[in-house]
Amino acid sequence: METERFYLETLGCQMNIYDSEFIADVLERAGSERVEDPREASVILVNTCSVRARAEGKAIARLSEFAALGKLNPSLVVGVVGCMAQRLGRRLAQSRVRLSLVAGFDAYDRLPELIREARLRRPVVEILSEPRALFSSRPRCRDSTAAFVTIMQGCDNYCSYCIVPYVRGRERSKPHGVIVDEIAHLVGLGTREVTLIGQNVNSYRDGQVDFAQLLELASGIEGLSRIRFTTSHPKDLTLGLIERIRDLPKVCEHLHLPIQSGSDRILALMNRGYTRGDFAKIVQFARYTIPTLAVTTDIMVGFPTETEADFEGTVKTLEDLQFDAAFMFRYSPREGTRAEGLGDDVPLEDKTRRLEAAVALQNRVTDEKKAALLGKEVEILIEKETRRDCAFMQGRTRENWLAKIPREGVRRGETVVADVLSATRWMLSCERSSRKVGT
Ligand code: 5AD
Ligand code: SF4
Repeated sequence: METERFYLETLGCQMNIYDSEFIADVLERAGSERVEDPREASVILVNTCSVRARAEGKAIARLSEFAALGKLNPSLVVGVVGCMAQRLGRRLAQSRVRLSLVAGFDAYDRLPELIREARLRRPVVEILSEPRALFSSRPRCRDSTAAFVTIMQGCDNYCSYCIVPYVRGRERSKPHGVIVDEIAHLVGLGTREVTLIGQNVNSYRDGQVDFAQLLELASGIEGLSRIRFTTSHPKDLTLGLIERIRDLPKVCEHLHLPIQSGSDRILALMNRGYTRGDFAKIVQFARYTIPTLAVTTDIMVGFPTETEADFEGTVKTLEDLQFDAAFMFRYSPREGTRAEGLGDDVPLEDKTRRLEAAVALQNRVTDEKKAALLGKEVEILIEKETRRDCAFMQGRTRENWLAKIPREGVRRGETVVADVLSATRWMLSCERSSRKVGT
């Protein structure tokens, strides 16, 4: 039998990136070979995101392109995995796009046999209605300086706009022993930084260990230089946890803390569990406790019933809190969520205008923050060559800024202290400082 050649494309969040590594590992263990060009593949899989309609639209567009390749090669398997597969299941298989395979989260370790089956009878649809977890097996080989490690799955918060609890299921924490083993394994392969990921990491709890204790355990892993985590939820980020983060030197000075809106009325409708004032207090305390802390956020505009005055609240919050960066989105109604029942009454033009205004404001703030770094010292963990220019190596600062440095004498996996010479919105240009790490 010929070796399968699989092409795997990942859309969506870090959780999907992590899951794709798991999928690639399962397929490689079964003897398949990964290819970077879909035209060379015997199997094409798209790992999809459901968080907004646009993300799903993009996945359908990609899948249609790939399905067209099937006309030239009838034995090609085009499959969909991830959130959209989990959410739509058979409906997806019956759509206009000719798919061979639709596999939910719990089917990933059976993908090799499902692919074989899909050649005999298509489409194969394999979805469990209540997803369990991907906790059993650890990824084998990832040759990366910085890696993601999932520490929990699902979410119990039921923010009224969000599809995640319906797709990824209830919150489940991965046992701490499994996480520590996984990180130690990655460190053995050369990883120096891990980002602990989950929808709501601060509420991690495996029955014995809470999130702060998990950070302590991870800090004890020899050879690991840095720890990050995302995403935090303002209602679970306690002041005590912020102090613990300050006291653990490997934990980086960056907090991704989505606020979503600066209007208390909208926050209540979103079921977020905090007010703008509560949020501001947490940020103030965090910045006071950890002075170099970078704080990033998510913002949504055009939530049902959002007025100009509500949006002004968001603008004012962006001005007041001076986030280092923000991801911003137009509200997208999601089937089966509570907000779907509120209608989608903010016209698209208004959503777009608000989004553009918020993005322009945040870009200004981010540029000012970047400009303030000129002449300052940062610590960079070197990850790889820059894409555009191999005279430079790039990595991230502790605050999660992307930074580059001339490659001479700089090794991958090394942490260097550097001076910031210039800055664009996306990249700091640095040169090595005479100071060593920790001096
Ligand atoms: N519409 C628009 N944005 C959404 N997000 C989550 N659900 C929706 C939705 N229905 C955004 C939130 C969240 C980020 C990951 O995606 O801002 O923090
Ligand atoms: Fe969705 Fe809210 Fe859970 Fe985040 S915290 S995944 S926005 S329900």
